Amino acid sequence: MAQQIERVGVLGAGLMGHGIAQVAAQSGYQVVVREVDDATLTKGIGKIEKQLARAVEREKLSQQDAEEVRGRIRGTVDYRDLADCDLVIEAITESLPLKLEMWREVDEVVKPEAVFATNTSSLPVIDQAAVTGRPAQFVGMHYFNPAQVMKLVEVVRCVTSSDEAFQTALEFARSQGKLAIPTKDKAGFIVNRLLVPYMLDAIRAHEEGVGSTAEIDEAMKAGAGHPMGPLTLADFVGLDTLGSICDVLFDEFREKRFARPPMLRKMLSAGWFGRKTGMGFYDYSGEAAVENPGI
Ligand SMILES: NC(=O)c1ccc[n+]([C@@H]2O[C@H](COP(=O)([O-])OP(=O)(O)OC[C@H]3O[C@@H](n4cnc5c(N)ncnc54)[C@H](O)[C@@H]3O)[C@@H](O)[C@H]2O)c1
Repeated sequence: MAQQIERVGVLGAGLMGHGIAQVAAQSGYQVVVREVDDATLTKGIGKIEKQLARAVEREKLSQQDAEEVRGRIRGTVDYRDLADCDLVIEAITESLPLKLEMWREVDEVVKPEAVFATNTSSLPVIDQAAVTGRPAQFVGMHYFNPAQVMKLVEVVRCVTSSDEAFQTALEFARSQGKLAIPTKDKAGFIVNRLLVPYMLDAIRAHEEGVGSTAEIDEAMKAGAGHPMGPLTLADFVGLDTLGSICDVLFDEFREKRFARPPMLRKMLSAGWFGRKTGMGFYDYSGEAAVENPGI
């Protein structure tokens, strides 16, 4: 039997957190979003407001509905505001020490019956579940970017997850119109297990001079029917996030296909994290993205 969910807590209002919060509010849930400071919180909520305004402009949402959705989202920097949440989903930085520190705080203040979920792309769910006092109520809910658009949520059952928590997560995802696919707690789950080595191989192909950034992307679009090329996709995911995911996969499987390519390492040292910093494989500072001449 699934638990009744009314109030949802979201940790992080970055690329994924703001989308997860918006999707939940659009599905009628009350949402509390927690960020590290006011400036980051305002930026994240601002992204939601922009998306809602765009939906109104495109006549996908009425002005009144947009206002109601916005009215269901509350921002905070205080963990204690999550206390009454029935479900808490974390979408903070992909770093195990940071996530563990955060869960210890959240576990202290949130009501004991609430279900916890991690949106991690690669870290083992059990490692996070184990630091809470409620490992049976802990699951993975892996949304895709942008969460407002992408249909899939991988629902991850770790060794300690109860049937009830797992059902709660499956039903919550479905209640938002998502396709919920159950997966095991294996690093990368289904999609990143396959997609990450593909993006890394595209970077290696670039390093070897097989093609330029745009040539590799255009070839995969036209030749494999993909909606976007692998280097555009890497910029979209965030090169810092991609780097963290491939490190975790490499640690887990010790296979070369998951190793961080030197080009990615250099781009991260330069502070080029992809779209979110305006520079990655492409330069996003102008009207249209152009190839980054530095790589
Ligand atoms: N980028 C993707 O395509 C993608 C897709 C699916 C899942 N994920 C996963 O989602 C998570 C977030 O990734 P992202 O791309 O949104 O990263 P991001 O860097 O865009 O956002 C992370 C946010 O978390 C905030 N944060 C850090 N510590 C916090 C805390 N203790 N409490 C509240 N907020 C905190 C940061 O200030 C930042 O705004 C990661 O685990 C990542 O693996 C990412």
